[in-house]
Amino acid sequence: MIKDVDLQHFEIKQLLEAIYFRYGYDFRDYARASLERKIINRVTQSKLHSISQMTSELLHDSRLFNQFLKDMSVTVTEMFRDPYVFKKLSNTVFEQLKTYSRINIWHVGCATGEEAYSMAILLHENDLLKRTRIYATDYNNHSLDIAKKGLYDAAKINQYAQSYRHAGGKYELSDYYQCKHGSAIFNHFLKEHITFANHNLMKDQAFAQMHLISCRNVMIYFNANLQNRVVKLFAESLVHRGFLLIGDKESLEFNEQKESFEQVAQKERIYRKTSKL
Ligand SMILES: C[S@@+](CC[C@H](N)C(=O)[O-])C[C@H]1O[C@@H](n2cnc3c(N)ncnc32)[C@H](O)[C@@H]1O
Repeated sequence: MIKDVDLQHFEIKQLLEAIYFRYGYDFRDYARASLERKIINRVTQSKLHSISQMTSELLHDSRLFNQFLKDMSVTVTEMFRDPYVFKKLSNTVFEQLKTYSRINIWHVGCATGEEAYSMAILLHENDLLKRTRIYATDYNNHSLDIAKKGLYDAAKINQYAQSYRHAGGKYELSDYYQCKHGSAIFNHFLKEHITFANHNLMKDQAFAQMHLISCRNVMIYFNANLQNRVVKLFAESLVHRGFLLIGDKESLEFNEQKESFEQVAQKERIYRKTSKL
């Protein structure tokens, strides 16, 4: 007789195989604990009897799959999140970026885009935006649609304005948006420098010639295998001596690509592609 916990592992394995087979999304390399929690929540919320029932329903019901995809995509973000990180970027990395005539920046897992607009604002204030293209990608199309509009809840703006100041913002955040019907719409001149696009870290390829890659609070959802794939992708995407920024709960310490990077700022989790490569 197998134990309940083994049965659950078997059912989850079958579910993930079915999703990969039917929809091409490979969640087999997502971190186990949060993956299991989300699957069990979905079974309960969709009033299903078991994970196996979810597997068979999901094979024929793309709405249930889309719901699962939403569950899996934690899109929490904010403008100038961890302002000290943006301040450090302005004070160190931007100095290096100034040496390039064209600058490419990739925001990976950009969610609803607040991070990309924050970066665009600071680049503008450092006279770098006009020669920069920001690629902001996510696998969640719903989030990307919000990001493309650059339209955010005005109720959050006070907090964002505070973070902007802590990040070293030189003017007023209100210089960069208009308020309409309870929303703040960010200015077109920022959007012109950002390309929002779908990119799935489970399977898609590198973006070439990046000078800075920011992938914050994304790899925490991945297991070691997928983290290795993703950081390899970043090493391939970066120019010689390009920069990598990751989230405050993330590290390259146990990554297979560890030797490809040297640490520039520990607290801010800024790395640089090593000159050995
Ligand atoms: C918590 S948000 C982080 C947003 C932003 N980087 C920040 O730190 O504020 C994580 C984002 O990663 C995205 N994500 C998760 N798995 C992904 C994958 N395989 N490919 C691309 N994006 C992914 C999610 O859709 C979500 O928008």
